[in-house]
Amino acid sequence: YFANIPQAPPDGILKLSVMSKADPSPEKVDLGVGAYRDDAGSPWVLPVVNKAQKRLEADPAFNHEYLAIGGLPALTGGAQSLMFGADSPAVDERRVYSIQTISGTGANMLAAVFLKQFGQPQDAAVYISKPTWGNHRSIFQTAGHEVREYRYCNYDTLGLDIDGMLADLRAAPKGQIVVLHACAHNPTGIDPTAAQWQQIADVMAERSHFPFFDCAYQGFATGDVDRDAYAVRLFVSRGFELLVAQSFAKNMGLYGERTGCLHAVTQSADLVPAVSSQLNRLSRATISTASAYGAKVAGVVLQDPALYAEWLDNMAEMSSRIKTMRDLLRDKLVALGTPGSWDHVTRQIGMFSFTGLSKPQVAALKEQYHLYMTEDGRISVAGLNSGNIDYVARSIDAVVRN
Ligand code: LMR
Repeated sequence: YFANIPQAPPDGILKLSVMSKADPSPEKVDLGVGAYRDDAGSPWVLPVVNKAQKRLEADPAFNHEYLAIGGLPALTGGAQSLMFGADSPAVDERRVYSIQTISGTGANMLAAVFLKQFGQPQDAAVYISKPTWGNHRSIFQTAGHEVREYRYCNYDTLGLDIDGMLADLRAAPKGQIVVLHACAHNPTGIDPTAAQWQQIADVMAERSHFPFFDCAYQGFATGDVDRDAYAVRLFVSRGFELLVAQSFAKNMGLYGERTGCLHAVTQSADLVPAVSSQLNRLSRATISTASAYGAKVAGVVLQDPALYAEWLDNMAEMSSRIKTMRDLLRDKLVALGTPGSWDHVTRQIGMFSFTGLSKPQVAALKEQYHLYMTEDGRISVAGLNSGNIDYVARSIDAVVRN
């Protein structure tokens, strides 16, 4: 039965954590997975999460029961306000349904399965940006979709290829499913401007494309959760029906707790019972009920005004440290006279920088300098700190000159 199964390739992102853990070199630097590290290079439990955990566990009513299929209302309700704004007309009109998921990946997969069953037209393909998060293609293909790409990164300037993107969305048959990164594009760190989002929305409307937003970095792009929700809110205000995958892995540091939501914005409240029933059915069939612990922690933070305010401060601390590291890396490369321009490192935003380093340079950095990054030259800027930044800059300088 198992004899003819071909070997699957290792995951391009998660394999790096394994390789770097196994590397005995004291100089090693893991710039692979998008997970925040403090200036000592350690995982950071957000202080507000610590407080929420203590509060939860002190509650005599705390237990380990199953959640409802739709998830924990304290989480889904709080997540909805965070995504669409506390004063969102769509939420007030009760035409948004939010279901708890296994973080962003689970939200993507639930959306993919839902769209495979109910997408209109039925044969709509899924368009992903070139490049995109390594898992997007795999998720949508696993759910049975045909996956195509639209241009996104201008590989010469390492900025947005807005003309290419708009042309590809225009050239696609009507009614395709388009995966958009709500903010802090992964892997490039290149986001459209507000005006460019308007142009994207124009073309999406003209071509009746269906927007599927993936929002894994709210708070990491500009440091402001409302500004980071700009694109999603713009599309909602322009009357699109859409889906949004939302993760609390990065912005609450709840990586392993798998805490997230999938939001469906429908045209009218009458549509919510059917949509929600199908999302619940598919979720029950795949995960039964979502994970409780992270949802409870996030629910406490989202519902308590004082803790919420503290969370925003914690997020600001993370995003500003990342920004400082971007500035330092760029300055150090410039000071070393490293060939090429490095301004894109500070122009890009969010957790990542798309360095423009080539595959052979990435391989040389790994083999000769114990520096781990994805093959496409993406670095998780959060992996940089005051202890390793000089070494990283010198290593990059050396391989670029070679
Ligand atoms: C990443 O891109 O590094 C993160 O989103 C982690 C993951 O699941 O790939």
